[in-house]
Amino acid sequence: MNKKTIVITGASSGLGKATSLEFARQGWSIAVADINQQRGEETVAEIEALGSDAFFQFCDVTKGEDIQALHDRCLTVWPKIDVLVNNAGIVSALGAIDRVPMQEWQRAIEVNLFGVVRGCMIFAPTFKQQQSGHIVNIASIAGLVTIPGMTSYSASKAAVVSLSEMLRSELKSKKVGVTVVCPSLFQTNLAESLQHAKEGQQDLIDEAMEKSSLTAEDIAALIFSAVRKNQFMLLPHKSSWLQWWLKRLSPSLYQWVIAR
Ligand SMILES: NC(=O)c1ccc[n+]([C@@H]2O[C@H](COP(=O)([O-])OP(=O)(O)OC[C@H]3O[C@@H](n4cnc5c(N)ncnc54)[C@H](O)[C@@H]3O)[C@@H](O)[C@H]2O)c1
Repeated sequence: MNKKTIVITGASSGLGKATSLEFARQGWSIAVADINQQRGEETVAEIEALGSDAFFQFCDVTKGEDIQALHDRCLTVWPKIDVLVNNAGIVSALGAIDRVPMQEWQRAIEVNLFGVVRGCMIFAPTFKQQQSGHIVNIASIAGLVTIPGMTSYSASKAAVVSLSEMLRSELKSKKVGVTVVCPSLFQTNLAESLQHAKEGQQDLIDEAMEKSSLTAEDIAALIFSAVRKNQFMLLPHKSSWLQWWLKRLSPSLYQWVIAR
């Protein structure tokens, strides 16, 4: 019997790595794609130690040709692709609109939004042809509610939520599922990607991550379950539900709370 197969971008670290290991424990074959080869190969070794199989593919999501090569290698190694996780992401620069340089906006959009767009554009035709498959896009709670100072990150993640909503309706008739994941902060190496950090900003992120009620492994287990159930919106942290519901039920009350 053919094993199920999953491709994960940004799989060398954090949530991508945890998701790789979660699906490996469930017996899936994994394509570990990332720009960090050393960590990626360590992830492959950990997957193999769990008795599953995996390969590492260098893939920079800002380069269409890298994603195409990843897609083509998957179809050389496997008869079909079951799941794509567009997970690679960066936090870029933090700060008010007049503090974040344009080049950091461009970096956030290139990786967090266009990286996901490229993944969907290149893998969706294969899923449509197979009449099966699932796309998981990793957004953030910052794409749904207001988190002060996270302008470029929030805008890129809000666009990923919107793109996922569109894809969900576009791909439904082709039997291709879509999940968008919107976590709050949890502990990973994400702060390593922060540029132009003001003194103390990195420590603040690290402290907030340490306080998270969920680990990357917890969220990876929820992603596995969401794919199985074809659940569209996954908000792993219960603490963010209230803010999201308030924004939808009473936008004016929400604005008042945020402005205080
Ligand atoms: N950690 C959090 O608190 C948090 C919260 C909400 C959403 N997220 C999202 O989760 C996803 C995973 O991030 P993480 O927290 O595990 O961070 P992480 O830094 O631990 O992992 C991100 C991985 O993406 C890779 N990457 C970066 N740029 C890339 C590129 N251009 N091409 C390919 N790979 C690239 C990195 O090498 C790294 O291995 C991101 O999309 C992030 O925005 C994280």
